[in-house]
Amino acid sequence: MNAHGDALVDEVLSTGTLKDLPQGHFIGGRFVKAMSDNAMESFDPGRGRAFARFAAGDAADVDAAVASAKAALNGPWRQMSPPERGRILQKAAALLRERAHRFAVVESLDSGKRLVEAEGDLRGVSRAFEYYAGAADKLQGDSLPLGRNYIGFTTEEPVGVTAQIIPWNYPLSTAARGIAPALAAGCTVVAKPAEQTPFTTLMLAELLHEAGLPDGVLNVITGTGAQAGAPLVAHPDVDHITFTGSVATGMQVMRSAADHVTRLILELGGKSPLVVLADCNIDAALSGVVEAIYENAGQICSAGSRLIVERGIADEFLGRLLARVEKFKIGHGLTNPDLGPINSLRQLEAIDGHVQRAIAAGNHVHTGGAIAKSEATGGGWFYQPTIISAQGLSDPLVQEEIFGPVLTVQIVNDIDEALIAANATSYALVAGIYSTNIVSALRFARDVDAGQVYINEFFAGGIEVPFGGNRKSGFGREKGMAGVRGYCKLKSVVARI
Ligand code: NAI
Ligand code: MG
Repeated sequence: MNAHGDALVDEVLSTGTLKDLPQGHFIGGRFVKAMSDNAMESFDPGRGRAFARFAAGDAADVDAAVASAKAALNGPWRQMSPPERGRILQKAAALLRERAHRFAVVESLDSGKRLVEAEGDLRGVSRAFEYYAGAADKLQGDSLPLGRNYIGFTTEEPVGVTAQIIPWNYPLSTAARGIAPALAAGCTVVAKPAEQTPFTTLMLAELLHEAGLPDGVLNVITGTGAQAGAPLVAHPDVDHITFTGSVATGMQVMRSAADHVTRLILELGGKSPLVVLADCNIDAALSGVVEAIYENAGQICSAGSRLIVERGIADEFLGRLLARVEKFKIGHGLTNPDLGPINSLRQLEAIDGHVQRAIAAGNHVHTGGAIAKSEATGGGWFYQPTIISAQGLSDPLVQEEIFGPVLTVQIVNDIDEALIAANATSYALVAGIYSTNIVSALRFARDVDAGQVYINEFFAGGIEVPFGGNRKSGFGREKGMAGVRGYCKLKSVVARI
C-alpha cells in the first residue's frame, strides 16, 4: 500500500501493526497480566490478519477488577465533590482531543472502520466527557410538597459498581457513553470490551487515570464474552449492567442479572425503517439512505436498514441510489474508501448467509449480493454494498437484523402503509422519515414505535439526545440527562417537624 503522509497510518500500512499498544487488563490504576497468563489475538479486518495480542481474562481477573471497583467506591472517589468529578471528566475530554488521532487510528485498525468515521467517533467521545463533566454537579433532587408538618426531599445517589459490556462496532463510543455518565454520577466501573476490539477501551482507562481518576474507579478486563463477560454480569458485587450487543446475549445477561436483582440497560440493535415520501427533498434523502446503511459498513445497531419508499418516486429514487452505490470503492479502513471491511470473518459469513437465503427465496437483488475482495488489501473481509427488494412484511429481510451493508427495499402507496411497514418488526430502536410535509413527518413521529425518530436527517443529534430501544431492541436510555440518571438511585427523605 502507498504511503499516506501520516506517520501512524504509514506505520500500520507498512508494518501491519502499531507500536506501544496497551498490554494487560487495567485494574486498580495500572496494567496487570491475566492471572492465567493466557492471551488472544486481535485482527485487522482490512487484511484479515492478527496484528496484536491481548490478555484473555477469566473469572479470577473479573473478581480482582470488581473488588477494585468496590473498594474504590468507598475510597477517595466518594469524598470528591461533584465539581471535582466534573473537572476530571473535563480534563479527560481535553486529553482525548489532543490524542484523538492515535485513538482513531487504533480504532480503525482494530474494528475495520474508515479512519474518517473513527475520527468522527473521537469527536463524539470527547463531547460525551464534556457533556457529563457538566452534568456531575447538576444531579439535584426535588422537594416534596407534604404540608407544613413535614420536610421531604429526594437525593440522587450513585448506583455503585457498574459493569459495561461493549460491542465491536463502536468500541470507544459505546464505552464512553456508558463510562462518562457512570463516573459523573459517582459510580465505579468494570468495562469489558469486545474480544474483536479491546485496545481503545484500555487506552481510555489509562487516559482517565492520567486525568486524575483515582485508582480502581475504572477497570478494564479484556477477553471473550463467555470467559470474561459472563462472570462479570453474574458477579454479586455488580450493582448495574449496561449491555450493548445481540438479542440472544442480552437475554442471557438479563437472566443472569435476575439472580442478584441487578439493574440493567439493554441496547440490542434493530431493523430500523427509513421512510422516503414522494414530497421529500430527494438529494437529502439519498445522502441520508447512503449514510444510514453504508456508514461503518452497516454494522450499526441503529442502521437504517429498511428503505420504505413511496411508489410515486420509487423508480427514480432507486435508480439514483444504485448509481451512487455502484461507484463505491472498497478498501482498508485506514485508506478511507467509500466502504470499509466487515469486523470479523464470522460476521461476514453471517451477512452472506442472510443474503444467500434471500436470493434462494427469489428476492430481487438490485446490486451486490456477494462477498467482495479488495484488490487494495489482498486479504480482508469485505461485502459488496447490497440492495435487495423485500417480499412482504414477513420476509426475513424485513424481520431479521443483518448488521452489514445490506439495504432492504419496501415500496408503499402512502404514509399509512409506510407506518404499517415501519412498525412491522419486533425491533423498535430508531426510525427516520424524509418528507417536506410537516404533518406527515410529525404523524410518523407520533405513530412509529421507536426510541428516537429522525426527520430529514438520519442519525441527527449527539450526546444530548437520549438513545435506546423498545421491544426487542431493549430498554433503558443512554446519552442525554436520562443517561446519567440511569446511574443514580433515588432516595426520598421525609422528616416530621
Ligand atoms: P454479542 O452480543 O455476543 O457480543 C457483544 C458483547 O457481549 C461482547 O463484548 C461480548 O464479548 C459480550 N458477551 C458475549 N457473551 C456474553 C455473555 N454470556 N455474558 C456477558 N457478555 C457477553 O454479539 P456478537 O456475537 O459479537 O454479534 C452478533 C450479532 O449481534 C451481530 O451480528 C449483530 O446483529 C448484533 N450486535 C448488535 C450490536 C448493537 O450495537 N446493538 C453490537 C454488536 C453486535
Ligand atoms: Mg480487531
